[in-house]
Amino acid sequence: MPLHALLDLQISVPDPDALIGFWTGLGMLRTDDSTLGTADRPSQLRLSEGGYRHVSEVRLGCTDEADLVAARDRLTAMGLEVSLADGVLRCADPLGDHVVVVEVAGAPELTPPPTREINLPGERSRVDRRSSAAVPAVVPPPRRVGHVVFGTPDVAASATFYRDGLGFKVSDAIDGGIGTFLRCSTDHHNLLLMQAPVPCMNHYAVEMDDMDAIGLAGSKVVSTRPEASIYGIGRHVLGANLFWYLLDPQGGMFELFADMDQITDDESWEAGEYRDDWDPFTIASWEPGPARPDFFLPADIEQLAKAREAAGR
Ligand SMILES: [Fe+2]
Repeated sequence: MPLHALLDLQISVPDPDALIGFWTGLGMLRTDDSTLGTADRPSQLRLSEGGYRHVSEVRLGCTDEADLVAARDRLTAMGLEVSLADGVLRCADPLGDHVVVVEVAGAPELTPPPTREINLPGERSRVDRRSSAAVPAVVPPPRRVGHVVFGTPDVAASATFYRDGLGFKVSDAIDGGIGTFLRCSTDHHNLLLMQAPVPCMNHYAVEMDDMDAIGLAGSKVVSTRPEASIYGIGRHVLGANLFWYLLDPQGGMFELFADMDQITDDESWEAGEYRDDWDPFTIASWEPGPARPDFFLPADIEQLAKAREAAGR
């Protein structure tokens, strides 16, 4: 596919250092003053100072220059202002607070985690020694940023921008489109659009090795802030990913996820699996209990709305 990677996100918050300290505490690497990366990918979260919490930039990778020209032409035909210079396309999300940047680049391969021997019924592969899950030498760090979820007042219009303008593909949709899952890589979703009264960030998601890595990192967060846990651990229906949703110290929701569906053959996915009528309340195949209300909408949405207005949005 011409678009093939979510490269990184820029997030603006009143106190970027609070997020840098938080994420380095969970194993992300500070690769320059305001950038957090992982072992395989030096830039995954760029933090900037802003009056209110929002995503300010989404950076995507595409295959070649022709993809940039084609995207520019599509976006221009939609009446949007687009710049394309020095191999970088920039276009503001018409319904959001962020700019989408596309450049010719590939996301580096991810190094697989060490193989873990698992004892299954009838197949015992680890005998006479303790599991590395029980006594981990290190808490496995985040591996990459995998997706972002935006609240938008018009999901259909936002989906048109990402699908018809930028070239994302739709993987699934909830209840005829009130929530739309889109991908720009083989991940089931790199972007989810959800209904919200004003544009906002619902969550950003970092991929972890597995369930144990999610549990270890999330437990570390709730050991000092038990109120940070919003929803999880569970497994989603759409995307099939394991999840645990928590709040970062700037009030932003993030998801620790693992084991997401991957789509490499668009046609077989569209023909066999695509759903546009999913019951919006079938969020998880299993969960410890229902999601808190701030899973659906940030608890401080009214303050965010006022701050957006004050910023001239
Ligand atoms: Fe998510």
